[in-house]
Amino acid sequence: MKRVFFTLMGAVLCSAAAAAGASDDAAMDRFIDKLMSRMTLTEKIGQLNLPSAGDITTGQAQNSDIAGKIRRGEVGGLFNIKGVEKIRDVQRIAVEESRLGIPLIFGMDVVHGYETTFPIPLALAATWDMEGIERAARIAAIEASAAGICWTFSPMVDISRDPRWGRMAEGIGEDPFLGSAISRAFVYGYQGRDPKHFADDEIMGCVKHFALYGAAEAGRDYNTTDMSRQRMYNEYLPPYKAAVEAGVGSVMASFNEVDGIPATANKWLMTDLLRDQWHFDGFVVTDYTGILEMIAHGIGDLQEVSARAIEAGVDMDMVSEGFLGTLEQSLEEGRIPMSDIDRACRLILEAKYKLGLFDDPYRYCDAKRAATRIYTPEHRAEARRIATESFVLLKNEGGILPLQRKGTVAVIGPLASSRENMPGTWSVAADLKKPLTVVEGMRQVAGDKVEILYAKGSNLVRDEELERNITVFGRDVPRDGRSDREMLDEALAVASRADVVVAVLGEPSEMSGESSSRSEIGIPDVQQELLQALVATGKPVVLVLFAGRAMTLGWEAEHVPSILNVWFGGTQAAEAIADVLFGDVNPSGKLPVTFPRSVGQIPLFYNHKNTGRPLLGDKFEKFRSNYLDVPNTPQYAFGYGLSYTTFDYGDVRLSADKMSESGSIEATVRVTNSGKRDGVEVVQLYIRDLVGTSTRPVKELKGFRRVALKAGESKDVTFTIDASLLKYYNYDLQYVCEPGDFDVMIGGSSDAVRTARFTLEK
Ligand code: BGC
Repeated sequence: MKRVFFTLMGAVLCSAAAAAGASDDAAMDRFIDKLMSRMTLTEKIGQLNLPSAGDITTGQAQNSDIAGKIRRGEVGGLFNIKGVEKIRDVQRIAVEESRLGIPLIFGMDVVHGYETTFPIPLALAATWDMEGIERAARIAAIEASAAGICWTFSPMVDISRDPRWGRMAEGIGEDPFLGSAISRAFVYGYQGRDPKHFADDEIMGCVKHFALYGAAEAGRDYNTTDMSRQRMYNEYLPPYKAAVEAGVGSVMASFNEVDGIPATANKWLMTDLLRDQWHFDGFVVTDYTGILEMIAHGIGDLQEVSARAIEAGVDMDMVSEGFLGTLEQSLEEGRIPMSDIDRACRLILEAKYKLGLFDDPYRYCDAKRAATRIYTPEHRAEARRIATESFVLLKNEGGILPLQRKGTVAVIGPLASSRENMPGTWSVAADLKKPLTVVEGMRQVAGDKVEILYAKGSNLVRDEELERNITVFGRDVPRDGRSDREMLDEALAVASRADVVVAVLGEPSEMSGESSSRSEIGIPDVQQELLQALVATGKPVVLVLFAGRAMTLGWEAEHVPSILNVWFGGTQAAEAIADVLFGDVNPSGKLPVTFPRSVGQIPLFYNHKNTGRPLLGDKFEKFRSNYLDVPNTPQYAFGYGLSYTTFDYGDVRLSADKMSESGSIEATVRVTNSGKRDGVEVVQLYIRDLVGTSTRPVKELKGFRRVALKAGESKDVTFTIDASLLKYYNYDLQYVCEPGDFDVMIGGSSDAVRTARFTLEK
């Protein structure tokens, strides 16, 4: 292997480190020591600078301001440029025209796939399929790395219990145990198992947004968060920690404050916790303009906030150019030590080293690979498969689903004929013209005995809403010039000719994701009116629901016979939806978030505390913890999801009723497919610690398994419970398990009723 290292003086071969075995830390240290000894202060600070790609494209790059900065060694990396030639072009400027020829790192929000787009992360979470998620991330890495990208701003593992927050779509749901498993699966998928070496089809992950971003007050994006350390440690931090333990190469600071200090300047968070307690050894990047925004947060001017960020332990500045513009002065004035700049520079160079960019700066820019590894039939088949696993059947009264392959189906709704809304938020690299529409997918899968009719039925939102938010709801689905009445009449006429109506409704893609918080989280009014009219026809109606969050579905749950929640399923969503509607695949998705009955219940989550006055039954009781106007229960519980078959659970059998801290117990349950179709059930283990020195949640997910069962088949499913599943952070933040009784619950949702009890002995 050759280490090619360009300088202004021409190409210089610098193969010493490679020859010595670039693999070991010592060789890397020597290489970076030598390189840093040749760097000027400006060049070191330049490595910490991550501007957005701006107008850098082939041809323009030569002249743009960013190109000048790259030549002067003032840029460490760029992000969200698409196209292998463009990236190669920019990399060439860095390696051939800057003094030291240090290669750039190229990042992108490859959040749920590259051109082959998988379901949005929240939907991937609904699969409870860790191998599947790892495969999806692996495919994302194969595609992105073939196109010049070596760094992804993913996984996003912000726990969220507030569906008003639009970024719930990008995350892992509400649960720390499930979220941690997903976090690991993403990191392994992107990076492989060895965080020190990257193959040329692996990319570096960036776990985000550290920390607590999903706990924004009132669900309003970028808002303040504030919580106890105990809640942080037990409930919000585990998925970030899981990514660090899996070897994630970088961490992104969140926009919000933590304990009154913006995360980007929070030394406790970025150094004490992340590096000293968790032993993270990669680099920390800010979020987009995260440094600049600290001026608005009110903790100083640009020089001050930049100094605070670097001394807190942040290494790379995304877009603000606060480091580039002020660190030199802060150093001169003695405001920051040189060691902070050296530390940050070293960590970024180490990342480039591990990625092999010093060996070959064009390692990820292979046009041949780009032509053969992106959007392949195999990748799309996998996207289609995992999309089918992500759909959650919320209701299926009268067994309307699966649809029969005969007769006439009316597919109605503004999302039925949309391409661009299929992949979902953050589909940066997807070609939004490529996905099939739901109508096309259904026609493809249905076969020739089914007649499929279509009517749009309504716009996505009313004109007044559109005016308020024109850019948000703009993706595809051209506005229809007809009045609401005309569209509805057409839909009703089409419905009258059909045996069954499939209403394809819900949120358009950009109604969730960043800066898409909502105070009402139902189906937009104009679409709901259409749905009500369709149900009133008396025809059997299936609601295919597009959603980037948990939604309020009170009316729908009561009146619509069948509801299939399909989230946003990626580029192959349409075919996958048809696969499930026609029964080629039996749905198995389970909710990774609680669906509340009303916005007033938020935050509503399954693993809450008991309180001193818990509600004992289902009915309202004065002086108990409940509401006058709505039950405490959700519309659909965490972990819930139906199948076209049914599953029965036997009693929970424990291998012993006592265990010591060093021992373990096996909990077994017999699960039977009691219906007529083969299916997959996600068997879930919940544990309750009945008495603690601190109060404990009423239940916590501690295990899960996807189990395939043929019609009529039974299987024993066994979970091993050891102390690691019983530990929590106590008042003093010690990670302990406390002797006493524990309840074990196993079932097909967080409402699991099969219970057994054991005692953890002193
Ligand atoms: C988002 C990040 C994203 C970054 C770069 C920000 O606005 O909060 O999640 O990675 O932009 O595109």
